[in-house]
Amino acid sequence: MTLAGRDIGRKKTSGAAKRSRARLPKPVVESARQPDGADLLVWYDRHRRVLPWRAKPGETADPYRVWLSEIMLQQTTVRAVVPYYARFLSRWATVRALAEAPLDDILKMWAGLGYYARARNLHTCARAVVEQHDGFFPDHIDALQKLPGIGRYTASAIAAIAFGREVMPVDGNIERVVTRLFAIEQPLPQSKADIQHHATMLLSADRPGDFAQAMMDLGATICTPKNPACGICPFMTSCAARIRGDAETFPRKPEKTEGRLRRGAAFWAARADGAVLVRTRPPKGLLGGMTEIPTTVWAHDFDEDQALMHAPEFSSRVKIAWRRVPGVVTHVFTHFPLELVVFAAKLKANGAPPRGMRWVPRDELDGEALPNVMRKVVALASGEGKTRPGAKKRGRQGR
Ligand code: ADE
Repeated sequence: MTLAGRDIGRKKTSGAAKRSRARLPKPVVESARQPDGADLLVWYDRHRRVLPWRAKPGETADPYRVWLSEIMLQQTTVRAVVPYYARFLSRWATVRALAEAPLDDILKMWAGLGYYARARNLHTCARAVVEQHDGFFPDHIDALQKLPGIGRYTASAIAAIAFGREVMPVDGNIERVVTRLFAIEQPLPQSKADIQHHATMLLSADRPGDFAQAMMDLGATICTPKNPACGICPFMTSCAARIRGDAETFPRKPEKTEGRLRRGAAFWAARADGAVLVRTRPPKGLLGGMTEIPTTVWAHDFDEDQALMHAPEFSSRVKIAWRRVPGVVTHVFTHFPLELVVFAAKLKANGAPPRGMRWVPRDELDGEALPNVMRKVVALASGEGKTRPGAKKRGRQGR
């Protein structure tokens, strides 16, 4: 045992020491007072973030902007969303304009933001608002939730922020704040109803939109997953986890079960005139409707030695020499990680595309609805990609 760097050994405590210790006051155990939503609003009025979709104090929020931002912010950071939001808004200033846009233009503008079902739903939802609600977003959570791509969280966020409804949206950030405030021990997702209940009890009836946004800001700037800044938190004296000293351990979560690795090969066919071979993915499912460099299926038991049997089939007159590009593209989807090896081939300028595929000029590829995983394939095939160190041809046995 050390005290101020000195070993004080394991001496027996003298009677005098025992008596003097007995006279010391008992240590004060801090107890949490009831959290008060008003504390948060006082903090928000001073520290609110300035965000492009957020109405300034005294302004009325525009439901279209609130909806557009909420869809973009699903599973995505504020920082990533800001430039996309600006581009969407300058191109499609109203829900009517968005409803009239071709889906492909929307997918192209969305490319890089991920979770592409959102972009398709965005379009379907815009059309539904025009056709069913005359171009005005409904102002009630139930009607909002009937629209494509709008779940309970997004409906609550729009109802609270754009229409001042007394509802409390709860996303991952707010779950973290609430589980810490009340030290909720039950793991997610079982604790969701309890979290919703506690969050709703805190909600300020006269400023529900500000309250929701204040909770979002608190989660993003102070009550962060790692190293929360408890010392400057408006709930400092009422946060049960802060007082216990284990705020960072909340929310409780079940053990992770990661999806199994899938692997496959992508085929980069480039014509002498610079065109490259692409195809459009089926409209439904993962990356539905997006553009891709043709690939094999992505499988747990992918065998690289057999990959070329699944390469795009050109007419028998076209001779193709596929070359394995060194390196591997890695990408993590929500449910599984993916590794793609890349084969490249050069073709004469007049080669017709195989069935279901098309040629795109290389300098127009960026304007295609290319998801991030395919941008990585393009980068590797064009020699701009980061390759995993030592990533060479893999053995037969799958991982
Ligand atoms: N995250 C989700 N919705 C948000 C919003 N309206 N403001 C800031 N962050 C958010």
